[in-house]
Amino acid sequence: MRKLVVGNWKMHGGLDANAALLGALREAGGQGCPSAVCVPFPYLQQAKSLLEGSAIAWGAQDLSEHAVGAYTGEVSGAMLNDFGCRYVIVGHSERRALFGDTDGRVAAKVDAALAVKLQPILCVGETLDEREGGVTEAVVERQLKAVFERGGAAALAACVIAYEPVWAIGTGKTATPAQAQAVHAFIRGRLAAWCGADVAARTTILYGGSVKPQNAAELFGQADIDGGLIGGASLVAGDFLAIVAAAAS
Ligand code: PGA
Repeated sequence: MRKLVVGNWKMHGGLDANAALLGALREAGGQGCPSAVCVPFPYLQQAKSLLEGSAIAWGAQDLSEHAVGAYTGEVSGAMLNDFGCRYVIVGHSERRALFGDTDGRVAAKVDAALAVKLQPILCVGETLDEREGGVTEAVVERQLKAVFERGGAAALAACVIAYEPVWAIGTGKTATPAQAQAVHAFIRGRLAAWCGADVAARTTILYGGSVKPQNAAELFGQADIDGGLIGGASLVAGDFLAIVAAAAS
């Protein structure tokens, strides 16, 4: 089963709003498609207590590349495990653009996640300049290759991959299903070349960037799009559930 829908709350939420949102998700159940929410660190305990025993998994939006030590402000993979996380987003474009997550650091974070058996969701994607400059595939290949070169085929094979064109994130400008499918097929082709056809066939490749209930079904209908990484729409229970349902059908 390659299908998956993951909510990325980013830096949104509060105890009361979270309780309402998580309660609504829990009540609705899994909708026939694996799903998860990646919440801010301080709310992991709340996610654990409200989602435990439900069909919905939870996780974090980042982790340290270090296992333990004098790294003020950082959060390790082992700490995420203490809160029952299954997933951790790694290399989101906002981390890459605003917080110094280079390709090398992202690869180290993938390794750190795998070392404690967390499932990394590795984000890749090009900026508008890069797309217009015709280097979309080169950028995505470079981002994937950093993980392959550091951790080998095993590291890349263990990732859920999320293709998120930076120009489509939070802008309301979704990639067309054909644009997204073309990059997804390219990613699956790289996986086949580096990790083998079996790995390529079973790897979950999510699309992210302004996925809404209105466009989800068409995006998820593409051959190589296995679900979504959902930002804004994951903050509204009805929208997130509708997107999960679209992935299931
Ligand atoms: P968006 O964000 O759905 O709000 O565009 C997606 C993401 O950044 O993961």
